[in-house]
Amino acid sequence: MLTDSDKDIKTASELIRSGEVVGIPTETVYGLGADALNADAVKKIFAAKGRPADNPLIVHIYNLEQSERLAVNIPELFFKLAEKFWPGPLTMIVPKNKIIPDETSGGLDTVGIRMPSHRVMRELIRLSFPIAAPSANRSGYPSPTSAEHVMQDMNGKISAVIDGGISRFGVESTVISFDNADTVRILRPGSVTERELSEVAENVIIDDAILNDIANDRAAPSPGMKYKHYSPEADVKIIEGSFDEFAGYADSLKKDGLYCLIFDNDDKSKLPCSFMTYGNDSDTQAHSLFSRLRELDKAGAKEILVRSPQKDGVGLAVYNRLLRAAGFEVIKL
Ligand code: TXA
Ligand code: MG
Repeated sequence: MLTDSDKDIKTASELIRSGEVVGIPTETVYGLGADALNADAVKKIFAAKGRPADNPLIVHIYNLEQSERLAVNIPELFFKLAEKFWPGPLTMIVPKNKIIPDETSGGLDTVGIRMPSHRVMRELIRLSFPIAAPSANRSGYPSPTSAEHVMQDMNGKISAVIDGGISRFGVESTVISFDNADTVRILRPGSVTERELSEVAENVIIDDAILNDIANDRAAPSPGMKYKHYSPEADVKIIEGSFDEFAGYADSLKKDGLYCLIFDNDDKSKLPCSFMTYGNDSDTQAHSLFSRLRELDKAGAKEILVRSPQKDGVGLAVYNRLLRAAGFEVIKL
């Protein structure tokens, strides 16, 4: 494990430039970073994660000029959005420059670009641009929001992890593409919300794949959305209804390994199962969801009933991750 000292960041950047994979902190979740232009290095990311080769990686930049080295025909709107949201949790998909290997773009002719804000990540990119990085979880498992999570998933599979503290947002970046000059499409919701995007873009579309199960054989606009995702070992169910209905449902199930994931301000005295909480507001829920799912596995949960979060603003990101963790199993009481 490396620290966030200048010396250790330099060590990590040397590893990346020599074709190795390093666990890296960002403000969203931890990533697995490698040289985006080195196909062999990028293949090591896919191997470490057990990730399907057709799922493209986001390429991370330090300054706006660098986007012109990675992409062609960049729309005006990209730069307007960059001005407002970068550095930060927004990824924009644009036609790729040929220098980006197919391994990085999952065979697509586009590339997702993001300028992160985390101090350590920024310094790392400054020293070793361009860095390709997916979330640092093993494929299918909840994304890591601490260096310990990365160690749990990747120990022995990568060269090093930099400890840059707990991820501030806790869910991955908002991913958008451009339908036309003034229309953006949200492919994955995140901490940059629909409302915020529409302060800059005339039209903002929420892609169907965000709330619906896209069959494996259909081409999803964002390939990552078609895979089972964010899932702990335990079986997850989203429960819609009042807290009393929730408690009643849990009571009717009562079995070994049943855990409830509820809000901080729910009345715990009424609950017939072991429980953890994940906040009341959407920002807190986003911040804690993935680490709670990991903790519930550790606690020995077999089945997790989750109080359904709000579905607007950052809540849409929380709900989208939960839907996938639950394999789209929602129980309406
Ligand atoms: O916050 C984040 O975005 C983190 C940190 C490390 O930057 N990264 C991350 O990467 O979440 P990953 O690979 O776990 O998720 C990227 C998502 C996937 O669903 C992928 O399919 C989609 O973005 N994506 C990437 N490039 C794309 C492209 N060219 N076209 C469509 N979707 C793309
Ligand atoms: Mg991921």
